[in-house]
Amino acid sequence: MLELESVDAYYGTLKVLDSITMKVDKGESVTILGPNGMGKTTLLRTIVGLMPARSGRIKYKGKDITQWPAHRRVREGISLVPEGRRVFPYLSVEKNLLVAAGTTSGGRREEDSLETVYSIFPDLKAKRKDLAGNLSGGQQQMLALGRSLIQSPSLLMLDEPSLGLAPIVVKSVYQAIRKIREGREELTLVVVEQNVRVALENASRGYVMQHGRVVAAGTSEELMNDSKLKERYLGV
Ligand SMILES: Nc1ncnc2c1ncn2[C@@H]1O[C@H](COP(=O)(O)OP(=O)(O)O)[C@@H](O)[C@H]1O
Ligand SMILES: [Mg+2]
Repeated sequence: MLELESVDAYYGTLKVLDSITMKVDKGESVTILGPNGMGKTTLLRTIVGLMPARSGRIKYKGKDITQWPAHRRVREGISLVPEGRRVFPYLSVEKNLLVAAGTTSGGRREEDSLETVYSIFPDLKAKRKDLAGNLSGGQQQMLALGRSLIQSPSLLMLDEPSLGLAPIVVKSVYQAIRKIREGREELTLVVVEQNVRVALENASRGYVMQHGRVVAAGTSEELMNDSKLKERYLGV
C-alpha cells in the first residue's frame, strides 16, 4: 500500500527526515512513535505531499507518487488528520463535513456520506448544526476524523489523535477508530502517537523515530516488551 525508500526532507538546510525506509501493507494499522521534534509530523506531511521529499522515493498502491502534488494524492485516497485537529470553527459541524467532501450542496450522495460518518460518531449528528468551534476537544477530534473519513480514504493517517485529551476521551477516540476499521478490512492506518501504550494497543506494528531516523521497528508486542528501547527513546 505504502512504501518509502530512503526518503529525506529538509526545512531549509535542516534535515528533518533522514533516509526513512518503511513499508505498510494494505489493511495494516501501524504506529509511528517518538518524542517531540523527531520528525513524525514531517513524515506524514511528506507522505501526503505537503512537504517535498528531497531525495528517495514514495510509492503508493505500486505507483511512484514522489512528485505528485498533495491534491492528487488526496484524490487517490491518502488522507491526513492533522495534529491539533484543524476544523473550521465558524462553520457548523455538517458544513465542516460537506466542505471536506468537496461539496456544500447536500445532494443524495452527500446525504449517504454524512450518514456513514454520523453512524460512527452519533455525537456529531446530535451537534450537526452547532459551530465546530463550540465542540469539546474530543468532539473536534471526532469531527477531524469524520472529515477524513468522508473522503473514503484508502490510507488514513492520524497525527497524535490523543494529544491534549483526557484519558477517558482518548478511549472514546480510539473506540471510534476501531469502529472505522470494522467492515473496512482494506483501510490502512498510520497513526503517530506519543502515548506509547495506547498506540501499541491499537496497532499491529510500530516504528520508532529519533532525530529524523527510524531507530527501531517491530511488532507491537516486540516494542512493548523492549524495556531498553522504551527507556532510551520513548521515556516510559
Ligand atoms: N515549519 C518548520 N520550519 C522549520 N523547522 C521546523 C518546522 N516544523 C518543524 N520543524 C523542525 O523539524 C523537526 C521535526 O519536527 P516535527 O516533524 O514537527 O516533529 P514531531 O512531529 O516528531 O514532533 C523539529 O526539529 C522541528 O523543530
Ligand atoms: Mg508532531
